[in-house]
Amino acid sequence: MKHLLSADDLTTDEIIALLGMADHMAEVNARPVPKVPALRGKTVASVFFEDSTRTRLSFETAAKRLSADTMTFSASTSSLNKGESLRDTIETLSAMRVDAFVVRHKSSGVPLQVTEWTDACVINAGDGWHQHPTQALTDAYTMTREFGTPQTLSGKTVAIVGDILHSRVARSNVSVLTKLGAKVVLVAPSTLIPASATEWPVNISHSLDDVIADVDVLYMLRMQQERMETAFVPSLGEYTKRFGLTAHRASRLAEHALVMHPGPMNRGIDMVVDPADVPGSRILKQVTNGIPVRMAVLFTLLGAGNASQLTQGTDL
Ligand code: NCD
Repeated sequence: MKHLLSADDLTTDEIIALLGMADHMAEVNARPVPKVPALRGKTVASVFFEDSTRTRLSFETAAKRLSADTMTFSASTSSLNKGESLRDTIETLSAMRVDAFVVRHKSSGVPLQVTEWTDACVINAGDGWHQHPTQALTDAYTMTREFGTPQTLSGKTVAIVGDILHSRVARSNVSVLTKLGAKVVLVAPSTLIPASATEWPVNISHSLDDVIADVDVLYMLRMQQERMETAFVPSLGEYTKRFGLTAHRASRLAEHALVMHPGPMNRGIDMVVDPADVPGSRILKQVTNGIPVRMAVLFTLLGAGNASQLTQGTDL
């Protein structure tokens, strides 16, 4: 594996191997000094052309805990504002010797394009509506660890609720979760379901109330309004009435059911109930798990891929 551009490129075995590696990384994260020298001498550049809180910080933290050097490129303060092209930006950073680019962009396909301009590994940290593979791996890791089934989600039902149409997270999750054997139900108004979803290995529902009592995982999405060019629902209030997670709806969840959200949450719209009041909420756990999962991805792409390098007490 040289790049990680799409969850669709991962085989079931590769997903299971990455989740297993994430377990080793979680053990590193639990040490008093959560750091190993595995990627010493490597440089990881995060190149974000779109806003991000958790994905950027989690990749940078992951790189640092593996002892890689990090470079942070921020589009809003860069020479892009002086007319420099994306290609020249990548070639400029490459000339400083970068081993991996972590790329986020509002246009689908940019990370793939970047692979043509550099010899470094490229990791997609979210491109348009297309893909966000490390979020899906983080989510699958969170689910498999919760259910105590390290290798599989066989027989579990995951409902992904909300703005599927504009969601790269939903596309990547459908790919990863179904490869691990989960049954995925997309729950949204018909205007927010992509036309191609009829060919995905999923079921589709237009009523959260119909499915909520039967899910093992309720995966909420926000309305991604910055990716919309027109109105897809009559009003946000109407949307919340039918698809928001209210306290009443949360009370209908099975006792073992998990509630997840990739963030950012829009309180009062997709999340009406306070997640702190929902015992099954694993929303902050997803954030915590993002670090070991991204460590696993960086180590698999850049390291020797051998977990023995992570043994305790290794000299820094
Ligand atoms: C998501 C993203 O940027 O795709 N957030 C994330 O990475 N955790 C989801 C979103 O923007 O709604």
